[in-house]
Amino acid sequence: MPQKIAAGNWKMNGTRAALDEARATAAGAPDGVLTLICPPATLLPLMPAGLAKGGQACHPAASGAHTGDIAAPMLADAGATHCLAGHSERRQDHGETDADVAAQVSAIWSAGLTAILCIGETLAEREAGRTLDVLFSQLEGSLPEGATAANTVIAYEPVWAIGTGKVASPEQVDEVHDALRGRLIDKLAEGGEIALLYGGSVKAGNAAELFALENVNGGLVGGASLTADDFLPIARALA
Ligand code: G3P
Repeated sequence: MPQKIAAGNWKMNGTRAALDEARATAAGAPDGVLTLICPPATLLPLMPAGLAKGGQACHPAASGAHTGDIAAPMLADAGATHCLAGHSERRQDHGETDADVAAQVSAIWSAGLTAILCIGETLAEREAGRTLDVLFSQLEGSLPEGATAANTVIAYEPVWAIGTGKVASPEQVDEVHDALRGRLIDKLAEGGEIALLYGGSVKAGNAAELFALENVNGGLVGGASLTADDFLPIARALA
C-alpha cells in the first residue's frame, strides 16, 4: 500500500510566530499518517520534532554562485526529508519547465530526500479535453529515470483549484488518479506503491470524501495547512 501522507505547503507564509501552529500540529498528528509541513526555508531548522519537514523548491546544483537560491543538501541539513518540485506557482512565477523540474528532482534524490512532484492542468487545458495528455506529458518530462516509492510522491494539483476554493469533484479526482496510477504501474516497477496526493482547496469539509477514493493516498494542502485547527482534521481524515 502507498504511504498515507498529509502534506502542508505553507508557501510564502509564516514567521517564527507560526511555529506555535506547527507545534500544535505535531502534537495532534494521527498515527499511521506521514504528517509533513513544507514551511518557508527560514523556518525549516526551527520546526518541531514529531512532524516531517520539507522544502518547497530547490536549485538543481548542490552549491555554487546562485544568489538567492537554496540547494537540496542545504534543505537536508536543515532537517528536511522531502522537497516539492514543479509546483504550478514555480512553473508560473519562475518559468520552470519540465526539464528544470526534472533536474530539481534529480538534485532532491541526490541529497537523499523524497521528491513531491507536482503536476496539474490549467482550466483552459481541462476545457479543451487535454487534462490527461497534459499530466502524462508533465510526468514524462519532469520525472527522471529511477523513481521509487521511497524517493517519489506525485501530487496532482489542478491549477484552477489552487487557492480558489474550487475543489475538483470526486469524479474528476478519481478519473485522474486512476489514470495516473495506471501510468505509473505501466512505467515503473514500484508504480503501484508511489503515493498519489491530491491538492487544490482541500479543507476539513471535503477531505474525507477525496481521501476515500481508491487512488488518493493523501493531500497536499495550502491555505488549510497554516493552522493546526484546519490541518489536523484533514490529516485525521486519512487515519
Ligand atoms: O501545494 C498546495 C496547493 O497549491 C493547494 O493550495 O490553498 O488551494 O490548498 P490550496
